[in-house]
Amino acid sequence: MDSVDIFRKEAHKMVDWIADYYADIEKYPVKANIKPGSVFSAIPDSPPLEPENMQQIFSDFESIIMPGITHWQSPGFFAYFPANTSFPSLLAEMLSSALGAQCMKWETSPAATELEEAVMNWLRQMTDLPDNFEGVIQDTASTSTLCAILTAREKATGFDANNKGMAAYAGMRVYCSSEAHSSVEKAVKIAGIGRDNLVKIGTDNTFRMDPALLEKAITLDIQNGLSPVCVVAAIGTTGSTAVDPVEEIARICSKYKIWLHIDAAYAGSAFILPEYRYLLKGIDQADSFVFNPHKWLFTNFDCSAYFVKDSESLVNTFKLVPEYLRSQIREHVNDYSNWGIQLGRRFRALKLWFVIRSYGLNGLQEKVRHNVALAAGLKSWIEKQANFELLAPVEFGLVCFRFHPRGIDDINTLNALNEQLLLAVNATGQVYITHTKLDGKYTLRMVTSQTNIERSHVEHAWNLIVNTAASIHTI
Ligand SMILES: Cc1ncc(COP(=O)(O)O)c(C=O)c1O
Repeated sequence: MDSVDIFRKEAHKMVDWIADYYADIEKYPVKANIKPGSVFSAIPDSPPLEPENMQQIFSDFESIIMPGITHWQSPGFFAYFPANTSFPSLLAEMLSSALGAQCMKWETSPAATELEEAVMNWLRQMTDLPDNFEGVIQDTASTSTLCAILTAREKATGFDANNKGMAAYAGMRVYCSSEAHSSVEKAVKIAGIGRDNLVKIGTDNTFRMDPALLEKAITLDIQNGLSPVCVVAAIGTTGSTAVDPVEEIARICSKYKIWLHIDAAYAGSAFILPEYRYLLKGIDQADSFVFNPHKWLFTNFDCSAYFVKDSESLVNTFKLVPEYLRSQIREHVNDYSNWGIQLGRRFRALKLWFVIRSYGLNGLQEKVRHNVALAAGLKSWIEKQANFELLAPVEFGLVCFRFHPRGIDDINTLNALNEQLLLAVNATGQVYITHTKLDGKYTLRMVTSQTNIERSHVEHAWNLIVNTAASIHTI
């Protein structure tokens, strides 16, 4: 396979395979339906000693790997939040793989660094974030949130916790709502702040953080000699896309000089639409903001856009320049390995550039609006079905609901019924939906943010759910 001619031949075949895959994607069962361990047991225990030809490898890919794939790009995929891709993004990923550049510093690929700075400026403008925010691409929102909490920790200690370790700085406190993503908890564990110092603030009946409870918790901690360092507010919680009241939370953070990080992992893409920007009121008081173009901006996983107001603090938190990485050019360019955890970095900016240019802002707005309209349509169908009910407001492209036949009000019975419904619907292979619990209620979640989703797909999924519900419980 070292010959460029063989590569050319095989690559053409694979591009054809990829095009066919997308053309036929709806023929695959959306959720992989294999027995645990079956792929592992089909793989030889030891690696081959001699070269194998691509035909054989590819044939095993089709027979062993493909049955174990869940088809995230299928328009029948309504699960979790999506990890969207698109053809322009795929093309850029091909080029990025081909270049194989490791873009840790400006010198190691100047174009990668400079394109990253440029496309992050584009994204900032597209989402109307404040001009004094600077962006860097991280792998995931979990990493971005960890960077925010580490920077908050360092800023609060004059960048000294990095020197002395956390034993010298006990009693730090971080706050988020009880609906915040588990990545916040992971970050406080990793940052050495400790899970016991993550204060989960209660929410109102639409799952938004209650700012009065936040201020109460902060003042109590200060009275007890503890040090509040960071609040993580969510715009679009994972369970129900609830939006914490940013303006009120920002006011509290400013008052007590606490770092405010905003986790908009999924919903942040909606800010390319002016009609959503009222939710950003108070953002100028925030310190950092993350959203994932890999969730809802049609850009291959992984690509997380992390914006920070005070990039100097971010760099001071992470910067280390051992001799073997020293170079002459420092002043006018960014070395993004100092803007986060890992040294080595993929060339991720390329796919964002391809996507933004291929669709244009108008094209991206049209796609996101279309996804939002599909969720609104599903919401209206649920409202018309007497035996179903919505369990949370529909803000973006997520609809939370449950089957609630008349006469059944016991929560355990309803939870069991909805779990049975979810399993039965997913077993058809036509759609894949997931669940959460809201107020203890087993909740079906459907996300209508797929790249290639049309009204017919949502309609089909909804009819399937209604008919399956009727078959497991006589309505
Ligand atoms: C609100 C929120 N934050 C963070 C995450 C974690 O995202 P990532 O997989 O990019 O770490 C998710 C994932 O769905 C999320 O919904």
